[in-house]
Amino acid sequence: MTRPGLRVPRQRGEEVRRALRESGLLDTAWEICREADHLVLPLVPEGAVPSDLGERVERDFAPVRRPGPSDYRELVALPTAERMLLPRSFDVVGDIVLVRVPEELESSKEAIGAALLAFVPGARLVGADRGVHGPERRREVERIAGSGPWKTRHRENGIELDVDLALAYFSPRLAREHERVATEVARGDRVYDLCCGVGPFAMAIAHDGRARAVTAVDANPVAIELLSSSLRRYRYTDRVLAVAARLEAFLPAAEPRERVVLNLPHEGIKYLPSVARLVGPRGRLYYYAVTPRAELDGRTQAIMDALGSEATWTIVERHVVHPYSPLSDLMAFVVERAER
Ligand SMILES: C[S@@+](CC[C@H](N)C(=O)[O-])C[C@H]1O[C@@H](n2cnc3c(N)ncnc32)[C@H](O)[C@@H]1O
Repeated sequence: MTRPGLRVPRQRGEEVRRALRESGLLDTAWEICREADHLVLPLVPEGAVPSDLGERVERDFAPVRRPGPSDYRELVALPTAERMLLPRSFDVVGDIVLVRVPEELESSKEAIGAALLAFVPGARLVGADRGVHGPERRREVERIAGSGPWKTRHRENGIELDVDLALAYFSPRLAREHERVATEVARGDRVYDLCCGVGPFAMAIAHDGRARAVTAVDANPVAIELLSSSLRRYRYTDRVLAVAARLEAFLPAAEPRERVVLNLPHEGIKYLPSVARLVGPRGRLYYYAVTPRAELDGRTQAIMDALGSEATWTIVERHVVHPYSPLSDLMAFVVERAER
């Protein structure tokens, strides 16, 4: 929408701006426009401006951006004792914000949601995150502000993933890990992404473009439909085969590959004896497990034992992906199979 402005030569800009401001004629809600060697100063609508100050014009001015609070907690009206319990962090997935609401603040959840909706640029919906449950690790989410579906598109590592936060597992906290594995894939490698969810590993590897083939498998058909939708959008359907199947059905007939990802952090270990057969000579397994910090060495040994003694295995790396609870981390274990 256009508004009244005063067009003045640049060299008179400061003098006229001050005169307009002192007489209450400058509209400070709008940015000054720059036009070659002129400036256009925004005017309050009804003000009478002396004609010798400049030329009266109409322009589409941009609003002045006022610095907002640096922390969403400043926007939640709560007594100090309760404010201390507000979580410091939250997750953003596409245009959806997820926050863990402490039990003690359940009655203030709408106020927390409203604050996050106002604080996060582009947020459409805010959900209370009640954790992931069941074999398909679906997230229990409750709308606490905003509107619309749990389906969104999330951008990570330069690609947009189709995500439905209520129907298929996704966490934005693994973005660096998805990228890290993709950058390790060598030209011509064939990859299995087991328990792929909506396919952030498979999509990052496909986008990188060096793999010869990727097969992504998940028991949740909704996750596979979301991955298929992302693959069609990027025309990567010839790079990734998306398979809706349980590992129990998929693993027995599968052929060995150069890279295998298995991200099933609570119970993946039970599949390791069968997954071991899928890792080719000098191939690598990227295995993820929730690991109590005090038991790191014991868990590492349990992984080696589960892989079995038919081949020689070497742990080439283990690192923390992110803290999981006060006493445990989500850990990445990278294990290599020997040549023969
Ligand atoms: C923690 S999520 C990992 C998702 C994905 N890899 C990622 O990084 O976002 C685990 C996934 O394993 C799948 N899953 C669980 N048990 C399975 C099984 N027996 N066979 C195949 N997939 C399974 C779930 O449906 C879920 O999508």
